[in-house]
Amino acid sequence: MRGKRVGIIGVGKVGATCAYILAMNGASHEVILRSSSNPDKAKGLALDMSQAVQAAQVHTVVKHAQNASDLQDCDVVVIAAGSPRLPGMNRDDLLLINAEMTKKVVQEIKLYSPNAIIVPVSNPLDAMVYVALMETGWDRNRVIGMAGILDSARMAHFVYEQLGYGAGQIRCSVMGGHGDDMVPLPQFSTVAGVPLTDLLTWEEIDNVVDRTKKGGAEIVSLLKEGSAYYAPAKGTSLMVEAILSDTKQIYPCAVMLDGEYGYSDIVSGVPVMLGANGAEKIIETTLNKEQAKKFEKSVNSVRELVTALHSKGFYS
Ligand code: LAC
Repeated sequence: MRGKRVGIIGVGKVGATCAYILAMNGASHEVILRSSSNPDKAKGLALDMSQAVQAAQVHTVVKHAQNASDLQDCDVVVIAAGSPRLPGMNRDDLLLINAEMTKKVVQEIKLYSPNAIIVPVSNPLDAMVYVALMETGWDRNRVIGMAGILDSARMAHFVYEQLGYGAGQIRCSVMGGHGDDMVPLPQFSTVAGVPLTDLLTWEEIDNVVDRTKKGGAEIVSLLKEGSAYYAPAKGTSLMVEAILSDTKQIYPCAVMLDGEYGYSDIVSGVPVMLGANGAEKIIETTLNKEQAKKFEKSVNSVRELVTALHSKGFYS
C-alpha cells in the first residue's frame, strides 16, 4: 500500500503555505505542487520545501507536477488557484474567471485523480464548490470547501481580543457562506466550555460578530497586496489531515445541501464530519428563528452567484 498523496493546485500564498504545513507535520506521505501558469514557481517551492523537510527530518516527499498528468492518484486535491480582484473588475467578473479556472482544473483532477476528495479554497468559495461539483458530477461528500474553519478561527481571535484571556480554549461557530452574510453564532460559542454569552455583553458580542464578518477585508486592507493566507492555509490543512487520517472530526465546511436546514441544490457552510470518504455526515443543528433568518440570507447570496453563472451561460 502506498502512502497518502495530496495535490495542491495553485502555488500562491495559500497553496504554498498549506503545502508547507502538510509537508512539515508529516500527515501526507507526498505533497505535489501544481501551477499550470507558473510551473517553475511550483518547482522552486517544491525544492525549497523538500530541503526544509530534510532539515526537520520529516519523511514527507514534496514534488512538483510539471504537467497535469503528474498530479496522479491523489487522495486529496486542494484547489488554491484563482485570480484576485483587479481594478475595474466587478464581483461577477471574478466569479466567471475563477469559475473557468475551477472548471479547467477539475477536468484534470477527474482525469488523473479520479478517486480524490477535492477541497476548493478559491473565492467566491461556495460558488466554486458548486462549480466543482457540477463539473465532476461526483457525489457531494467528495467536494468540500474550506471557509468555516477560517471564519470560526477569526471569531475566536476577536473573542480573545475582547476578553484578554482564554487563548487556545475558545471554540467559535460560524455557519453560512463565506461572504458578507456569513453567520457567526455566539450562542454556539464557548471558552473552556463556558458559554460566550456568560462572558461578554451583547454589545461586545456584536462587535466580535461584526469584526468576524469583516475579518478578511481587514487583513486585505493592511497587507495591501493580497489577502490572508496563514489562517486559510491552516484551516485547509486541518481538513486535509482529517480526511487522510479518517479522524471523523467535525468542522464547519462548505458542502452541497440536500434538504438539510431546508435547502437543496446550494452550497453553504455547515458542521460536517470529515473522514476518509470526505464529508461523511452533515450535522443539522437547531437554529433559532433569528439564526435561521440570517442563514437564509446567506444561502440566498450564494444562490445569486450560482444564478449569475447560469445566466451567463456558464453551464451551457
Ligand atoms: C479571506 C478571503 C481571502 O477571508 O476569503 O481572507
